[in-house]
Amino acid sequence: MMGRHSMGVKLGIGAVIVAALCLSQWLDHALYAQEVPKPTLEKAFPSSSKCKRCHERVFEEWETSPLSKSIHSPAFRASLDAFLASPAGKDKALCFRCHAPHVREFPEQAQLFIDQAKAGDPSLDGVACAQCHLIKQVDRTKQPPEPKYELGSKTLYGPYKDFVQNLAHQSMELGLFQKSDLCLNCHQSVPSAANLGKSNDLLGNWDQSKAVKSGKECQSCHMPEQVGESANGEKKRKTANHTFPGRIGKLRQEAAKLDVQTKIEGDKTIVTVKVQSLVPHSLPTTHPAWASVALELDIKGKNLKTVFTDKRVYGRVYQDAKGQKTSFDFEAVKVLEDTVLKPEETRVETFTFPTPKDTKTFDVEVTLNYAPITGPASFLQRVEAESSKGSQDPVFQSIEIVKFAANISTAK
Ligand code: HEC
Ligand code: HEC
Ligand code: HEC
Ligand code: HEC
Ligand code: HEC
Repeated sequence: MMGRHSMGVKLGIGAVIVAALCLSQWLDHALYAQEVPKPTLEKAFPSSSKCKRCHERVFEEWETSPLSKSIHSPAFRASLDAFLASPAGKDKALCFRCHAPHVREFPEQAQLFIDQAKAGDPSLDGVACAQCHLIKQVDRTKQPPEPKYELGSKTLYGPYKDFVQNLAHQSMELGLFQKSDLCLNCHQSVPSAANLGKSNDLLGNWDQSKAVKSGKECQSCHMPEQVGESANGEKKRKTANHTFPGRIGKLRQEAAKLDVQTKIEGDKTIVTVKVQSLVPHSLPTTHPAWASVALELDIKGKNLKTVFTDKRVYGRVYQDAKGQKTSFDFEAVKVLEDTVLKPEETRVETFTFPTPKDTKTFDVEVTLNYAPITGPASFLQRVEAESSKGSQDPVFQSIEIVKFAANISTAK
């Protein structure tokens, strides 16, 4: 009896010893796991070309979007240079926080990205597939909100609960992908313009807009729902447009309405323009600092000759620490003038000019455009030099948002 009992005790001690051994091994393992070298940049953030193999439709859409050029556009390359040459440029990784967010996780690679951006060699991604689909969480208590990545994870987050399994990666539904929060971490404010304090705000009171109160998220308008193949050969389902319509694309036509009234008072004519912004955030968004929208009036008299022009500009004028105007938000310390159209605002403009003479009618043309890039001559020359299209680069052209035209009779 005694023998069997003590056996039991011995076994018990044995189990404890085994358990303790296991625990210490597990602890070793846990410690070891922490010392596992960090995955390389290429492993942690696989290149978009790897996703293309199975997600051709998405890839082709994304490739035409501005996002695919986030570190390769001539304006970015020229302004990155200007930034690096400025006192704020000591923080080499700052622009990449949003233009190539994986550099945040690999700050030691900042110089590599600078060299690549300068070379205009698009072999490195800026804001591509993995840079969004590996975001697990966005911390909105931080200003600007911060993304959390899990380095080395093979799980890609997305909108589907009922995803089809595949051999390349694990999938997981994450509500974040249908929420503005995902976008806010790059679109709300710019840390390089931190000197602006409360004025460092790209979107305005967007969350108070009618659109947002009716349940719209950034994706509702900028990644519109469509039907197609989510992965090559899979059955068609609801998908999200990855061309990110904005300045380019059809969404522009939904940006604003113009209501134009012309009143002739003898020698004097008054044109009143109501500009109604339908955009639930600032128009334009104010990074880069030269971003602006122009309302242009063109009066054509006899033989369609322009007899009067005038314009109003919606944007911001910034001042630097030396009291000079600057086109760069990373140099700005103060907003001198702010004419940005606020979310869903209606702005009324009046233009007064001499009634065109020697003609029975005249034309009133009003256009609302995204204005071309502006800045110091040396900077504009730099942008031109960086572009394969030179002075024909699209940044030097204005982009029409809406246009109004009417023929007005001068007869009483
Ligand atoms: C990691 C940072 C980042 C995230 C996250 C991000 N964006 Fe962007 N986005 C950018 C950058 C950088 C550009 C500018 C690219 C360029 O032109 O160089 C841009 C450009 C755009 C444009 C084009 C703007 C124009 O002027 O035409 C749209 C639209 C847009 N983003 C929408 C979104 C939406 C919607 C989301 C959320 C689903 C989102 N973005 C998430 C960084 C980001
Ligand atoms: C907080 C995120 C963020 C940071 C940091 C940031 N950008 Fe941007 N950048 C954006 C977004 C978002 C857009 C698209 C804005 C739009 O189209 O309305 C953009 C657009 C641009 C554009 C115009 C599009 C293009 O590629 O020509 C330039 C130029 C630019 N950024 C330069 C810079 C430079 C230089 C820095 C560093 C000083 C910087 N950005 C830092 C988010 C950021
Ligand atoms: C700026 C962030 C961003 C980038 C860059 C991005 N996505 Fe997405 N993607 C999203 C969001 C947000 C959704 C969900 C949109 C929704 O459901 O409203 C989504 C949805 C998807 C889906 C499911 C729906 C569909 O349209 O098929 C797939 C697959 C996908 N993305 C793959 C990719 C691939 C591949 C790339 C690169 C070529 C890419 N994404 C680039 C943000 C992004
Ligand atoms: C071997 C083919 C293959 C490769 C390579 C691949 N995917 Fe997928 N992926 C799929 C399939 C299949 C689905 C399921 C689509 C569905 O359910 O409609 C999917 C689904 C997704 C989803 C949706 C997940 C969800 O739950 O919403 C995202 C996001 C995604 N992939 C992103 C990527 C990204 C980013 C890459 C590159 C890093 C990539 N995929 C590479 C085959 C692939
Ligand atoms: C109700 C639709 C709607 C929603 C919701 C919406 N936008 Fe827009 N957005 C527009 C329209 C319309 C424009 C202006 C026309 C254009 O450029 O396409 C625009 C323009 C933009 C631009 C580029 C133009 C510029 O002025 O520089 C960016 C970047 C942008 N939106 C980001 C966002 C982000 C980020 C969110 C979410 C916080 C968002 N938008 C929510 C409709 C919307």
